[in-house]
Amino acid sequence: MKKVFVKSYGCQMNVYDAERMADVLATEGYSETKAMEEADLVILNTCHIREKAAEKVYSELGRVREMKQEREASGLETKIVVAGCVAQAEGKEILRRQPAVDVVVGPQNYHNLPALLRKSQAERIVDTEFPVEDKFDHLPAPAKAKIQSRGVSAFLTIQEGCDKFCTFCVVPYTRGAEVSRPVSRILDEAMRLADAGVRELTLIGQNVNAYHREGPDGSVWSLGRLLRRLAEVPGIARLRYTTSHPRDMDDELIEAHGGLPALMPYLHLPVQSGSDRILDAMNRKHTGDEYRQLIARIRKLQPDIALSSDFIVGFPGETDQDFEDTMRLVADIGFAMSYSFKYSPRPGTPAAEIADQVPEAVKAERLARLQNLLETQRQAFNHGTVGQTLDVLLEKPGRHPGQIAGKSPYLQPVQFESDQHRIGEIVAVRIVRAGSNSLFGEWIKPGDKVAA
Ligand code: 5AD
Ligand code: SF4
Repeated sequence: MKKVFVKSYGCQMNVYDAERMADVLATEGYSETKAMEEADLVILNTCHIREKAAEKVYSELGRVREMKQEREASGLETKIVVAGCVAQAEGKEILRRQPAVDVVVGPQNYHNLPALLRKSQAERIVDTEFPVEDKFDHLPAPAKAKIQSRGVSAFLTIQEGCDKFCTFCVVPYTRGAEVSRPVSRILDEAMRLADAGVRELTLIGQNVNAYHREGPDGSVWSLGRLLRRLAEVPGIARLRYTTSHPRDMDDELIEAHGGLPALMPYLHLPVQSGSDRILDAMNRKHTGDEYRQLIARIRKLQPDIALSSDFIVGFPGETDQDFEDTMRLVADIGFAMSYSFKYSPRPGTPAAEIADQVPEAVKAERLARLQNLLETQRQAFNHGTVGQTLDVLLEKPGRHPGQIAGKSPYLQPVQFESDQHRIGEIVAVRIVRAGSNSLFGEWIKPGDKVAA
């Protein structure tokens, strides 16, 4: 049997796409391996969001090339495929920069992989056209055993692309315009996942809350409506979605955060900056106060919600005052979790053309200050759950024998001792300690006295 090794960079969309590529290749007789050296086919599923991410691909390709040469010396053939957003953005340039690459395939074309691999026997190829047909129509359903091996929490792509054109972002160019998948297909996929034991679905899309597509009743369904329907799928206990834009939080979705128990109290809602001037230059189309008001509305319905965001520091023209506005917004909101980055100019995006770029040292200093505050907030949030009893979805064996590990509703990893529970169960666990990355809890056996 031939073996394929897939390495994914970047966001959850790529994790999902990597699984779909493995599914396509399974029908061609490839089994997945975690060891690159034994792979007949190496796929790098790349990310183009920041410069560093793209450069990493080229250095990794250098290592893959060496491995290909070593295998060749022992008479073994290795194909190298570059997929994902760098493939989409750079196309032929990748073949030029790295002669060992056989195939370059964009995120909309990976259903063509079997054909591309066959053609690559004769020539090196690039496939980055935006096809008219939907790739999802051409992707095979994964085998039940495959779904089971991937765990009880699964990603489900419901939307791709972005029409927002934030001035710093390459996504609208690499992933194209917003397209929502049909409701019926999403339901089919959800049911198949649930049937194989999946308990938690994370709906994903580049701008997932822009979801809109005609439902079985003929009306256009928003994300809120879709979530309500998915909550009815037998076996599905938890729903999440990522990543979203503040402007697309409509009433139905906000209400779902209050009235839909399966929708977990966790929201990743990137704000990027707290300065109105910078938000405007970023083309975010909302102010810092509008974001505060939106969060206040959501918290009114779901007071416990854990909030998460992305931040960019050092956007062109960002002054000390602009940065202080971001720090103030962070202090006002209180985030449970966050991702923060130095602004990285992306060729072809409007912000890269702005003359007033912020010096690297200033970006670094601001990032350190912001991350310090965000980390303090994350720790405070985690410590705040000590003493609470939280429902934990069991995902895998814990780090030590006898331990089992899962996630809290707030997406915190939780470990506790148990020899009685199975993966996929949801267990009420009392949190006793917060480590730097995980919570530690104890299962209260029915009848046990709980220490005060
Ligand atoms: N520079 C830095 N960070 C960026 N992001 C997107 N584009 C850039 C860029 N050019 C960040 C944003 C986005 C996250 C996925 O990546 O914060 O929300
Ligand atoms: Fe990029 Fe997100 Fe803005 Fe779309 S909404 S352009 S994906 S940052």
